[in-house]
Amino acid sequence: MARLLLGVSGGIAAYKALELARLATLAGHGVRVLMTETATRFVGAASFEGIVGAPVLISEFERDPMRGAFPGEEQAGHDPIGHLELAGRCDAYLVAPASANTVAKLAAGAADSMLTTSFLACTAPRLLAPAMNDRMYADAATQANLATLRERGVEVIEPDEGKLASRGEYGRGRLPDPEQLLARVEAALPAGDRPWDGLRVLVTAGGTREPIDPVRFIGNRSSGRMGIALAAAAAKRGAEVTLIAANVDLPAPAGVRRLDVETAAQLAEVAEREFATTHVLLMAAAPADFRPVGVASGKLQRSEGLELLLHPTQDILASLSAKRRPEQTVVGFAAEHGGEAVERARGKLRRKGADLIVLNDVSNPEIGFESERNAVTLIGAETEKEVPIDSKDAVAEAILDEVGRLREKRGQPAS
Ligand code: CTP
Repeated sequence: MARLLLGVSGGIAAYKALELARLATLAGHGVRVLMTETATRFVGAASFEGIVGAPVLISEFERDPMRGAFPGEEQAGHDPIGHLELAGRCDAYLVAPASANTVAKLAAGAADSMLTTSFLACTAPRLLAPAMNDRMYADAATQANLATLRERGVEVIEPDEGKLASRGEYGRGRLPDPEQLLARVEAALPAGDRPWDGLRVLVTAGGTREPIDPVRFIGNRSSGRMGIALAAAAAKRGAEVTLIAANVDLPAPAGVRRLDVETAAQLAEVAEREFATTHVLLMAAAPADFRPVGVASGKLQRSEGLELLLHPTQDILASLSAKRRPEQTVVGFAAEHGGEAVERARGKLRRKGADLIVLNDVSNPEIGFESERNAVTLIGAETEKEVPIDSKDAVAEAILDEVGRLREKRGQPAS
């Protein structure tokens, strides 16, 4: 995976950088950490060293015991110039949190520490996640410094708005969650370095709403979590991801293009349009199977009673598979109750012309709609694989691994 340089400057949010380092290392990246002196007052270098498995550098005069190598790499035979080596070899450099002081130094081109010197010497994508008190962030000096850095091609990750470290204070200045930061760094990695670079992935998520009258609808309990996890995982692998979200309350992952729809007919229309340029379709949404015939123009009155006539909606998955091209991979989802679930899913695989059906056993109360966890069986024409209960993110990775294997077996190119 990638060589990531993480700069940590002084701020309370420095503790979140520990989690970021952990997530990046878990994701398989080689991470080296540079801290400012002030940052070491907030968190210890030893914590980062334990997490990433490499020494932290602070002063530009310090010798790097790893001679510019990232974890998992061979060390150089010679002793390179410390402050240039990591900056010259990294695939991306993220400073998180970037304090107001560090932002000012970077905008001025100062080089008074390992963090600032490396920033100046780095030609890889550079990202900055400012985090500070909201008044310090809003101040004209900080904003002008950030504008200067943006103009120079630095990607500034906006801080979130919310409760701040100082008691009772609320405003913009919070460091975004480590997962978000990692997604942004991964999205900034140069093309060609990631396994799904060049691949276009279309994910549908959530549940459609079929209107009865202007205030009522027939809906379902799909939260969209599984689709969001799939979109995030595909973007992390380098794919260009479009998410068609049907009534999803959750935010789209960083770097993912989101298109919102409400009804099954809208989902069908947008999916049809987008499918033409898609390599992989992950149909995780739960479109309604029926819709009321004719939507009342005014709110229906309880006293008048209600009889609904429902008509079946279009089977979107089946109609898209019917017009697929050889380089396209189509994945469907099936929610089934115990017993003959696998046989029914196999039937769906054939009927809907999909390459893979991701089977969810909805009789298991531990998994499903609102849950953060899931367990699935991946059913292909000749394969059947159990993915044991895990986070939806981990299950998403397992689904994409299987899609990758399928495409490789068929010699389907990345783009
Ligand atoms: N699906 C679709 N269009 C619909 C309904 C479902 O594309 N109108 C897709 C879902 O996104 C999912 C797959 O079809 O990927 C399976 O959905 P499911 O509701 O299990 O399939 P049905 O064909 O409705 O099967 P059943 O006979 O069990 O109702």
